[in-house]
Amino acid sequence: MSSLLRKKSITKLLQQSNQQTLNRTLNALDLTMLGVGAIIGTGIFVLTGVVAAKSAGPALIISFILSGIACALAAFCYAEFASSVPISGSVYTYTYVTLGEIFAFLIGWDLMLEYLLATAAVATGWSGYFQALLEGFGINLPSILTSAPGSGNGGIVNLPAIIIIFLITALLSKGIKESTRVNNIMVVIKLAVIVIFILTGIFYVKPENWSPFAPFGFEGIITGAATVFFAYLGFDAVATAAEEVKRPQRDVPIGIISSLAICTTLYILVSLILTGMVPYSQLNVSDPVTFALQFVGQNSLAGIISVGAITGITTVLLVVMYAQVRVSFSMSRDGLLPKKLSTIHPTFKTPFQNTWLTGFIAAMIAGFVDLTTLAHLVNMGTLAAFTLVSIAVISLRKSHPHLKRAFKVPFVPVLPAISALLCIYLMTSLSTTTWIAFIIWIGIGLIVYFGYARRHSKLRD
Ligand code: ALA
Repeated sequence: MSSLLRKKSITKLLQQSNQQTLNRTLNALDLTMLGVGAIIGTGIFVLTGVVAAKSAGPALIISFILSGIACALAAFCYAEFASSVPISGSVYTYTYVTLGEIFAFLIGWDLMLEYLLATAAVATGWSGYFQALLEGFGINLPSILTSAPGSGNGGIVNLPAIIIIFLITALLSKGIKESTRVNNIMVVIKLAVIVIFILTGIFYVKPENWSPFAPFGFEGIITGAATVFFAYLGFDAVATAAEEVKRPQRDVPIGIISSLAICTTLYILVSLILTGMVPYSQLNVSDPVTFALQFVGQNSLAGIISVGAITGITTVLLVVMYAQVRVSFSMSRDGLLPKKLSTIHPTFKTPFQNTWLTGFIAAMIAGFVDLTTLAHLVNMGTLAAFTLVSIAVISLRKSHPHLKRAFKVPFVPVLPAISALLCIYLMTSLSTTTWIAFIIWIGIGLIVYFGYARRHSKLRD
């Protein structure tokens, strides 16, 4: 029994990370940009439309605020961990040092679900804007090749989504490190198009579009919150960069919290303006932001926004897929997954096989499963991870009361407890199908743990 809960030693991990050779070059601003780069993508550019049309109506803004609060609480917990255990691996590592191996394995397994499906989901969003852009040039791809079955558009396969994933896989497998410079430029473009949208859209808002404000009631708002939650994901990626930061204890919490604050503000403004420009019932499209501008006759601006959205969504794709490879790589290095996943390519110095395997699976999912289904599953996985991080903060306070913490969550254990409860509450509003899929995934995880990981773990006696 005790072997299930064996833990990694924080002291050893910190020593290892001090001896490591990664360059410590990132500062708080870089991290904030990295965060914004990883956060703003398919969620705001795509999902807002479906959620406004089908779940929340103009009360979309309340959905965004609610899920923003859940994320802010979880972000505090991430920040405390990042400031005391600034080691890559993020929540998987945090759990390994606090709650023990079986929880770490399950959370790693859960993160794989999150990142793998998020890669697919984000690629589907990319595909929507790509098609909108082509249409701007008068090119219409046949609909059977541009959407997954079940999305209601008569599609068989989402080919653009598959192709973009393979392109990103090729880049990552050859060792394209997210260069902060390129990332920063793409982030500026992404922020610029959102600001342009807000500043233009505001003149076309018709307050009558905001009523009825909550056509689907409170339930719709909560389902909406559990869906748009997807838009906030990515701030945890900041924590994974901890080993490359000059002053991680100070800068990682700043990076996490400020990127989340910037995105929350923008999301609230975008949702307010979007639902003010277009009657909510017409927003069930795959490119709502562009659509809203076309709706009010701003066609050339709509084209610019499409290019910006495509750029922006591409950075998210890079970061999320990178995160997926990094998690399975760490698990494999710890012996919990087969060694092949952490084999380094002799020339490219990257986990080449792992990257291609990830890319292949993500591409197949993106090609054949529709966005909303994917987003719900991703959210389930992430909410589970947030719940565990919140609990782990309380546990770390008990087990390591004297550990140096540059950032502390206020009001422990109350605040992390609220965070965990809020996440669980949002999880309960996801559909039964999502729950069944999630439980099956965790069940397979348990089989892998007992059948393989436990016996191969580097921590075994
Ligand atoms: N937050 C990311 C997005 O919306 C996953 O694309």
